[in-house]
Amino acid sequence: MKISFSRQNGNTRREDGSPPIVRAGKQDPIYLEQIKAMGAKFEYKIELLKMKVVAVTSAVAGEGKTTSCAQLAMNLVMAGRKKVLLIDADLRKSDLARGMNLPAVPGLSEFLHGTVAVKDIVRNSFLPGLYIIPAGTRVEEPANLLAGEKFRAFLGEVRGHFDIVLLDTPPILPVADTLSLRDQVDAFLFLYRAGFTPFPLMRQAAEEVGEEKVLGVILNGVAPQKQKYYSRYYGKYYHKPSGK
Ligand SMILES: Nc1ncnc2c1ncn2[C@@H]1O[C@H](COP(=O)(O)OP(=O)(O)OP(=O)(O)O)[C@@H](O)[C@H]1O
Ligand SMILES: [Mg+2]
Repeated sequence: MKISFSRQNGNTRREDGSPPIVRAGKQDPIYLEQIKAMGAKFEYKIELLKMKVVAVTSAVAGEGKTTSCAQLAMNLVMAGRKKVLLIDADLRKSDLARGMNLPAVPGLSEFLHGTVAVKDIVRNSFLPGLYIIPAGTRVEEPANLLAGEKFRAFLGEVRGHFDIVLLDTPPILPVADTLSLRDQVDAFLFLYRAGFTPFPLMRQAAEEVGEEKVLGVILNGVAPQKQKYYSRYYGKYYHKPSGK
């Protein structure tokens, strides 16, 4: 699965008031088509393999996990009419809540510390069918919390209420957080940012997770010359005829 580098990412100007992650690639037809294709393949694979809880991760920081995870979740809701829960399991940063313009607290860390109930942390989003659990107050060393019995029971509970549960997680190599929840998710979806992350690091991360647990790899930010290829072979399909 490939996602090209969107010319319009979350850092672009705020034209329509939509949250930054939602704006990512909004006016980039190639990017949007690739997200749709990724959503369709993802849905097909998890139905075939009877999976429900998938963690989105990468070898190192900044490979596009949070953006792609949110775009995938939105696509699954819109295209598949699925009820999707998106959980920010990166308890050190709260990027998902920020990217979705939602308050980060109370969130998963409050729940895991036992101060609030599940119902207090599941937020509705701008999209009916898409629910979000923000990370909550920053935790310095979240690995033990994520490996604990409370998190396991929590995933067991949400499994029963949603069609798909996606977790946005920290990168594998710098911190132990994601490996500590390894046994509690059905699979990992890897982001690999081409031209940014040395391939041996990606391989090392996949080995640490265990290749049998890797559902797929999304190649994020493929080289710009690919766009030539796309406009040559797909151009007429995504440019709307003018005057209609
Ligand atoms: N395909 C893409 N095209 C353009 N910009 C992208 C793409 N994917 C990610 N970005 C941008 O790259 C930056 C990092 O992306 P993101 O926050 O999703 O990565 P991350 O893997 O979650 O990072 P971290 O490891 O720090 O949590 C953001 O500014 C995002 O908008
Ligand atoms: Mg992130």
